[in-house]
Amino acid sequence: MFTFWLNGERVQLPAPPIAMSLLEWLRVEARLTGSKWGCGEGGCGACTVLLWRPNYPTPQPINGCLTPLGAIYGCQVLTVEGLGGKHPIQQA
Ligand code: FES
Repeated sequence: MFTFWLNGERVQLPAPPIAMSLLEWLRVEARLTGSKWGCGEGGCGACTVLLWRPNYPTPQPINGCLTPLGAIYGCQVLTVEGLGGKHPIQQA
């Protein structure tokens, strides 16, 4: 079973599309559209998510457009949706 954690929740995929980009999977399959498709080449950062790899002490920002879904096995992914509620300025 292909397992990873997305915004604190375990995700298990029996037949993951491992060649699909993480960004496409987030937007199409998980319906998390906070990470955007910009350049698609790693240059703009609109698709940035945080990734915790096993045995790495700190998270790393990665480009979701360049990262295949298959590369996040066993990792934790944090998207903008996982950051919590709105900032007080956004609420106002
Ligand atoms: Fe521009 Fe990923 S879409 S860096």
